[in-house]
Amino acid sequence: MKNVSICGSKLQHSMPFPNIIQAMQIEGVNVFCGLIHTEDPEFDGNAPENIWKILVKKRAFSCNYRDKNLILKTAVNAPEDRFYTVGSDFVGQVVALGAEVTEFQVGDRVIGNNSYPDSGVVGLLPGVSTNSASKEYQSFHQAKLLKIPREMSDESAAAFGIGGQTAYSMIRKLEIKPGANILVTAAKSNTSLFVINALKHHNVNLYATSTSLRFEQELKDIGVKQLIQVNHEDNDWLTTSKDMGQVYHEIGGFNYIIDPFFDLHIGKVISLFVPRAGGKYITCGLYDQYSEFTGKDFQYHGLPFNQILATMMLNNIHLIGNCLGTTEDLQQAIQDCANGQFPVVVDSLFKGDQIREFFERTYNAKDRFGKVIYSYN
Ligand SMILES: NC(=O)c1ccc[n+]([C@@H]2O[C@H](COP(=O)([O-])OP(=O)(O)OC[C@H]3O[C@@H](n4cnc5c(N)ncnc54)[C@H](OP(=O)(O)O)[C@@H]3O)[C@@H](O)[C@H]2O)c1
Repeated sequence: MKNVSICGSKLQHSMPFPNIIQAMQIEGVNVFCGLIHTEDPEFDGNAPENIWKILVKKRAFSCNYRDKNLILKTAVNAPEDRFYTVGSDFVGQVVALGAEVTEFQVGDRVIGNNSYPDSGVVGLLPGVSTNSASKEYQSFHQAKLLKIPREMSDESAAAFGIGGQTAYSMIRKLEIKPGANILVTAAKSNTSLFVINALKHHNVNLYATSTSLRFEQELKDIGVKQLIQVNHEDNDWLTTSKDMGQVYHEIGGFNYIIDPFFDLHIGKVISLFVPRAGGKYITCGLYDQYSEFTGKDFQYHGLPFNQILATMMLNNIHLIGNCLGTTEDLQQAIQDCANGQFPVVVDSLFKGDQIREFFERTYNAKDRFGKVIYSYN
């Protein structure tokens, strides 16, 4: 089987299979990546450890921001003669079933179910179904998979699980009222693209911030009323941004803020809510996930912690943390995607020997807009 992998530098000379190893840099760290061939796994559906499991042959996979931590950790710390599979989203086909599995059939197309905080099965860990989505064959407990309908393309499905489940969870938790003014930060992040597309059919006014105005038209096409440029290194951005000042003046403040990188944004946007009106701020993540491997310390810019909390207290702001989502969130997202109501933004598709190209596009391309997919088909 094939394994798109992060590789040790000496791997090329120590594996008995034909391998492609390519060098690149991510965040200034030297990274070797490659397509590694290994033996297909054996799967005995009657073995006690497999009776609830399903063997899946991947058709395509993709990476998320979170995988960058594991990639850089591997590049910096792992032995030079080993390889590590990567990725946290995939689409695959069921090729074998455990003896007790009843809800799936051979041939079903599936994606990972990252249900959190409850996996639905006592003793089974909640959260991401895999950190090794690039393994061509992999077995999963049946609760860690969901079937997808034929209306969903492989490209959309390979991009979908984490973004779809997280976006639907955040929107559910916010209990958004019609006519609300919503700010989404880091508009070009995959998470925010999922959120923006999920909000398309809500009756809301959607504003977004981004580090650049690149893709302004594309973002307006999917429902953003106005895109506002943010300068993360400017402590005074709130007072210097004429565009944000004008929007705030026009609408009187936001009711909801959705933020995938709280350490970049909270100290800049927390004072943008409607005063004293009990707005809701929700976040699912932070920017500083890998500085320990790059040697470049993260510098925070924005209001100090006590001013953030004082602003929240005086304005009755609810602060909501969100990690992934429930099975029902993902099921609803899949249904809406299949009905054409929740499109997935796919940037590009790679195959075959294009391993470096896949990682370069995923993590180094400033003009990436949407998910980057690697396909085994
Ligand atoms: N906890 C969970 O369940 C969960 C689930 C999904 C995602 N997340 C989190 O959500 C966040 C986004 O993940 P993702 O996979 O969607 O990320 P992503 O697509 O890789 O995000 C890339 C975007 O981040 C912004 N960005 C990148 N480098 C930046 C820099 N140096 N300075 C400022 N902004 C920069 C840019 O957006 P702009 O230019 O538009 O600002 C860029 O387009 C991460 O923190 C991730 O861990 C968490």
